[in-house]
Amino acid sequence: MTATNKNAVDKGSYPHFMLKEIMEQPEVLRRTLAKGIASIEQGQLSPEYGDLRLGKYQKVLVLACGTAYHAGLVGKYFMEKLARVPVTVEQAAEFRYTDSFVDPDTLVLVISQSGETGDTLAAMREAKSKGGYLVAITNVAGSTIAREAHRVINTVAGAEISVASTKAYMAQLATLYLLGLQLAMDRGRLGFKDAVPYLKAMKKIPEQVEQLLAEQATVKEWAGRLAGNEHAFFLGRGLDAAVAMEGSLKLKETTYIHAEAYSAGEFRHGPIALIEEGIPAVILATQPELVGYTVPVMEELKSRGAWIIGILGADTGQAADCCDYRMILPATLPEFTPMPAVIPLQLLAYYTACARGNDVDQPRHLVKSVKDVK
Ligand code: G6P
Repeated sequence: MTATNKNAVDKGSYPHFMLKEIMEQPEVLRRTLAKGIASIEQGQLSPEYGDLRLGKYQKVLVLACGTAYHAGLVGKYFMEKLARVPVTVEQAAEFRYTDSFVDPDTLVLVISQSGETGDTLAAMREAKSKGGYLVAITNVAGSTIAREAHRVINTVAGAEISVASTKAYMAQLATLYLLGLQLAMDRGRLGFKDAVPYLKAMKKIPEQVEQLLAEQATVKEWAGRLAGNEHAFFLGRGLDAAVAMEGSLKLKETTYIHAEAYSAGEFRHGPIALIEEGIPAVILATQPELVGYTVPVMEELKSRGAWIIGILGADTGQAADCCDYRMILPATLPEFTPMPAVIPLQLLAYYTACARGNDVDQPRHLVKSVKDVK
C-alpha cells in the first residue's frame, strides 16, 4: 500500500490501526458470511464456492506464509475432518525445496492477504507448472496472486494497514471454513441438511467475537504482567496448536518478546526444560475431547513455576483451576473455536506492545508484504 493509500484509510478514534482492525472483525465476519452463504436453511453456499466443483480433487495443498500459513493449518483440520481429503499445508518459502506431489488432481489453495508475497507467488507458479488447480484466497482484488490463480475467492476484510495481520486472518479462517463445507458437500461427505448446523453456528460467531472484544480490560491486565517478560510459550492441542502458533507470531511481531508455540504434547519432549520460575504460558484448551490431555501438562508447568493464561472453551472448564488468568469462550462447535479464540491473543499482543512502548503498527524489521524472494 502506498503512503497516499495508507493515509486514505483513517484510524478514526483508535490510537492504532491494529486495534481498529481487531475491532472490525465482527463486521468482517458478517460480510464474509453474507457473501459466502446463499441459504442457511438449505445448506447452500453462494456460486463463488458452489461453482468451484471441488469433487474431483483427491488431495489439497495449501501454500502460504506467516499468518496466512497459520490460517491454512486451521483449514487443514476442518477439511480433513469433514471432507475426508488429505491436506498438506506448506510454508511457501520451503515449498520449492521439496519435490512435491502436485498433479491435476491436486486442489492448491494459495492464501495471501496482500496477494503479492514473493515466496507464495514462486510456490504457486511451481504448483501451477505441475498441473495443480489453483484457487487463491486474497484480500487484494487484482493482485498478482489473484491474477495468476485459476480461480479467486476475495476475502472482504477491507484494507489492512497494521503490519501484524488480524482481520485478514479472520476473513481467511471464515473463507476456509466455507470452502471446507463446499469441499465436503462436493465430495459427497456432507449432505446439504448436514451443513445447516455448521452454517447456523458460523452465523453466531460475529456476535461471540463482539462479546470477547468487550473483554479488553481483562486482557490489558494480563498484558501489564506479560510486558515485563522476555520469553513466553503458547501451547495447545489439535486446532488449538494451530491457533497457538498465530498467537505466538502476533506477540513476537509486535512486542519482540521471544515467544514459542508448541503442541502441548510435543512440548514435553524437550522444550519443557526451558520452564523456570516466572515464565508465562498461554494455553489454549478449547477442544472437549483433548482437554483431558492438556490439563496434566498445565499442572506440570505450574508445578515448575510457570504462570498461565488459559483460553478455554465453554465445555472445557476443568482446565480453569490450573490458570492464573482465564477467558472462557462463548459456546460454539469445537471446529469453530479458532475464530473466537484468536481474539484475546490478538488483544494480548496489542496491549503488551503498547505497554512496552513499541511502534505497534510498524514493528521493527517488518514490512506488510515481503515481495522479494531470498
Ligand atoms: C509478511 C507479514 C506477515 C504476513 C506475511 C504473509 O511477512 O509481515 O504479517 O503474514 O507477510 O503475507 P501475505 O500478504 O502473503 O498474507
